[in-house]
Amino acid sequence: MTQDELKALVGQAALAEVVPGTVVGVGTGSTVNRFIDALATMKDRIAGAVSSSVQSTERLRALGIPVLDASQIERIPVYIDGADEIDHRGHMVKGGGAALTREKIVADLAERFVCIADESKLVDTLGAFPLPVEVIPMAAAQVARRFRSSYGGDAQLRAGVVTDNGNPILDVRGLAITDPLAMETEVNQWPGVVTVGIFARHKASVCLLGTAAGVKTLRF
Ligand code: 5RP
Repeated sequence: MTQDELKALVGQAALAEVVPGTVVGVGTGSTVNRFIDALATMKDRIAGAVSSSVQSTERLRALGIPVLDASQIERIPVYIDGADEIDHRGHMVKGGGAALTREKIVADLAERFVCIADESKLVDTLGAFPLPVEVIPMAAAQVARRFRSSYGGDAQLRAGVVTDNGNPILDVRGLAITDPLAMETEVNQWPGVVTVGIFARHKASVCLLGTAAGVKTLRF
């Protein structure tokens, strides 16, 4: 099976995680796009979606799925999103699509985070994928220097990318994230960091992993 076919497989499988009659949290990315397409087939059985990006909002609305503003929502049962990397404890690196801040906000509303990913995303240690960090523009160089001095990471601005919130993204290479919760906690406190793309506090409850043998369910 191709990577695209695996993404379609888990996108479809995620429908079983949707709680009928409720608002569904929807992430961002090519895997989530497959989920949104599948969600359209049950749009009359959900109360709508809360979205993590302009891109996903547009796709949801184009398929006739109502999108609610996150500020109208107190709690949702489930948030469904992809990942750039996920480890064997459900910690993730996210933000390859630059939507990490809104993704973390919507994930925070949810009882459960359901990660949908093809098997190439499962890793022993996070960090081979460059870690995305959304920053306030005037702090970009300062945050990059701090990554170098604190973790030996090489942070570069992602060229031509501005987030839905109007900020740049740093991609940090050369990290081995052995303690995701500790690094997330520390980096989040650096002045000028909007969001670091480590999802350890908001880790996956379950991962639907697309493999050549079918969908494998990992519970954390
Ligand atoms: C976007 C994300 C995505 O979930 C992540 O990049 C995975 O994307 P894809 O499903 O296209 O591989 O974090 O900010």
